Amino acid sequence: MIEIAIDGTAASGKGTLGKKLSNKYSFPYLDTGLLYRKVALELIKENKVYTTELEQTSCDFAKILNFKELKNTNLRTEDVAKLASKIATFPDLRKILNNKQKEFNNSSKKKFGGCILDGRDIGTTILPNADFKFFITASLEVRAKRRLLEKNISFLHENDEKCMLQSLINNMRERDNLDGMRKISPLVPAKDAHIIDTSSINAQELLLIVTNIIEGKK
Ligand code: DC
Repeated sequence: MIEIAIDGTAASGKGTLGKKLSNKYSFPYLDTGLLYRKVALELIKENKVYTTELEQTSCDFAKILNFKELKNTNLRTEDVAKLASKIATFPDLRKILNNKQKEFNNSSKKKFGGCILDGRDIGTTILPNADFKFFITASLEVRAKRRLLEKNISFLHENDEKCMLQSLINNMRERDNLDGMRKISPLVPAKDAHIIDTSSINAQELLLIVTNIIEGKK
């Protein structure tokens, strides 16, 4: 039974890596950020963001969260990401979502012999005994450019494109700080994680580095 834990900053390439490893080894893959994003999206949809019971309402949404609803493209917006990072500081919410991640891991291992999770605290909190731990990062500028390329920007004027890039840089910096400085399960590499900087390598090169480690070729 193999557990693979991937952590790292936003747009570092960890999600693409998780999917590629899942295809290669046929283990189920869970992007755990989507759980936080799903709760954030429900809060926005139900107009609950600026209420005093934000933490309690987040927990209520988390309890009824269905994994089948994680494909919604609205989960990928910057507003949802920002709120997801904010509510991810709530201890009770983390407890509920942690249990869901552990259940996913256990059932995947039973059925398929392995599991791949990506997030911020997988190697430190969710799967502390994972067989392989990777911490993926890249420079802020490179990561913001990657996010920009994911958007449909072909119609944008050069100046608007620059503004959008700057806004992505600001959002990411804010989120890096919030995720890295929070008291519970902050974004830090596990002591036994392989730390990989993807600033100057592509997804295929990252996959090769990681599979070489997993297969003991390096
Ligand atoms: O991976 P992502 O960008 O979709 O995650 C969105 C936010 O969710 C991230 O800024 C912090 C939070 N998160 C977390 O606290 N712990 C995780 N394991 C995954 C995500």
